[in-house]
Amino acid sequence: MAEELLEGTVQNLLDQETLKWVFVGGKGGVGKTTCSSILSILLSRVRSSVLIISTDPAHNLSDAFQQRFTKAPTLVNGFSNLYAMEVDPTVENEEVGEGMDGLFSELANAIPGIDEAMSFAEMLKLVQTMDYSVIVFDTAPTGHTLRLLQFPSTLEKGLSKIMSLKSRFGGVLSQVTRMFGVDDEFGEDAILGRLEGMRDVIEQVNRQFKDPDLTTFVCVCIPEFLSLYETERLVQELTKFEIDTHNIIINQVIYNDEDVESKLLKARMRMQQKYLDQFYMLYDDFHITKLPLLPQEVTGVEALKDFSGKFVRPYEPATSRDSVEDLERKISTLKQQLNDAEAELDRIRKGKQKA
Ligand SMILES: Nc1ncnc2c1ncn2[C@@H]1O[C@H](COP(=O)(O)OP(=O)(O)O)[C@@H](O)[C@H]1O
Ligand SMILES: [Mg+2]
Repeated sequence: MAEELLEGTVQNLLDQETLKWVFVGGKGGVGKTTCSSILSILLSRVRSSVLIISTDPAHNLSDAFQQRFTKAPTLVNGFSNLYAMEVDPTVENEEVGEGMDGLFSELANAIPGIDEAMSFAEMLKLVQTMDYSVIVFDTAPTGHTLRLLQFPSTLEKGLSKIMSLKSRFGGVLSQVTRMFGVDDEFGEDAILGRLEGMRDVIEQVNRQFKDPDLTTFVCVCIPEFLSLYETERLVQELTKFEIDTHNIIINQVIYNDEDVESKLLKARMRMQQKYLDQFYMLYDDFHITKLPLLPQEVTGVEALKDFSGKFVRPYEPATSRDSVEDLERKISTLKQQLNDAEAELDRIRKGKQKA
């Protein structure tokens, strides 16, 4: 193939000024939280305001930033325009689950995920009113994320169903009332109004999620078979939902930094290379950003900022970096010697003039 490789960094995401929603997803433990946190930091440098939302029930934004976050956006320490929040789409699930009776539980069964979808939609509605320049999602492992992205259509279906039920049985609204946590004092009109308002949000969000100018999905993975397989599944599902994806971050790559001696590491590097080759073959139309496996975890703003350089500059193993540094050192030594020689020459000339 004569085609040139797309740049191996996430710079394209920073340059895409129209982006509003950035989803970051992949298998558990591959580095989603690390990558979404760093992306949000990088975006905060080029955008007026950034919100990072964790929808993974196993929240770890707090661990990554070493700061406690809640379900309300909180300014991240050390930043003036970066906010973080952690939402749990499953909490309200249980609340709604209590006190379900015949008709309602049938309804809920008929529309699986409707309650979870409802709280996701509520959250999106809230976030939309807040006017952040861009919103980054640190999502839960693959299956869960895809379910989240289907929520708009799940809700859409659910709402149509409820509406048609409402027209057939007026009484259903009292059940629906409880389902959406509206007090009895609100009349039918209020409830219907709320449902219709929700439908507007959903339609809007659905449209936005399918617009590649506004929304993109960043796949994070590691160079191993299972992760490659999961990534392919993810990319296919996203394509099916018409959600744009054109960035893959391959994390935890072992580089031959200082001539690896260990047989184990050598074997792992060979294994990684095999999957790296496959990634490049399968996703030649993606920006593929490779990140090195670090000797330590990436926790705290400083560590995140340190690592962020690797997201915007293609990673070069230390060996070649060292030789560049060596050259630079040699050049500066030579310059110094040249300066000294010139100064010496100057002195000799002046001495001759005096003589
Ligand atoms: N390239 C890396 N080198 C070393 N440790 C890493 C790297 N990327 C992530 N980590 C660490 O691995 C752990 C899991 O990463 P995390 O981003 O929380 O993954 P996920 O959100 O996908 O579960 C964290 O402790 C994180 O600091
Ligand atoms: Mg995480």
